[in-house]
Amino acid sequence: MRIVLLGCPGAGKGSLASLILEKHHIPYLSTGAYFRKEVADNTDLGKEIKHYMESGLLVPDSVTMRVASKMLEAPENENYLLDGFPRTVNQAMMLDELTTKLGRPLQVILNLYVKDDEVVYRRLTGRQICSKCGAIYHTRNHPSKVEGVCDVCGANLVIRKDDQLESVKIRLNEYYRLTEPMVDYYKMKGNLIELDAELDSEVLLEEVNSLLEKYK
Ligand code: AP5
Ligand code: MG
Ligand code: ZN
Repeated sequence: MRIVLLGCPGAGKGSLASLILEKHHIPYLSTGAYFRKEVADNTDLGKEIKHYMESGLLVPDSVTMRVASKMLEAPENENYLLDGFPRTVNQAMMLDELTTKLGRPLQVILNLYVKDDEVVYRRLTGRQICSKCGAIYHTRNHPSKVEGVCDVCGANLVIRKDDQLESVKIRLNEYYRLTEPMVDYYKMKGNLIELDAELDSEVLLEEVNSLLEKYK
């Protein structure tokens, strides 16, 4: 199964992905998570992209395509759940070309749609993530059992640098400027499935699991 999860910052892509992966054991490919690790490890790539990531700007397409192509071409990634890629029209067109060439075309394109920016602000200003395994929490919507400690692996919870209000504003702006036109591109192609991102996670999961039934 080859799935793409689209949605603005804070729409719930990462949270929904981890629920989907509990049932469907396919590789999880997240450009955001990959980039965050490169920054944390202070690699050459990390140094190159740190400023974009932390301020909330998109990483340039040339860099993102290099990373995404490597992920998609890996023999073990014949099936995948893509999170946070593509997010420009240019990336979407290159993704189509690459996956067609590889004989691994996209099957399900899900768009988590948020109607009100306030939802994004509330979600991102309360988010905590595990410093080790990346598990996602929220101080009110989805708190960890022990404050500041990951339920899954016991490591500390941290706040993402790009969840500062100023960066969230820039991320949303980048979304409307560069990613929304790409969502329209998929709509025009007629293969986009819209999901109401404001639904409860379990309700969303049920909806997605029934959609995925026919691709098993
Ligand atoms: P990335 O890591 O992809 O971040 P993002 O798109 O901004 O999305 P988030 O991870 O912030 O939100 P999410 O939708 O995953 O929400 P979550 O599930 O955590 O990218 C980061 C950066 O990397 C970019 O800004 C860019 O610089 C770079 N980058 C990455 N990919 C790129 C690309 N292709 N091109 C160029 N640059 C790229 O949920 C948020 C909160 O809400 C959590 O606290 C959660 O508990 C809560 N929540 C989730 N679902 C629900 C629900 N249904 N009900 C109530 N609360 C919920
Ligand atoms: Mg995410
Ligand atoms: Zn953890």
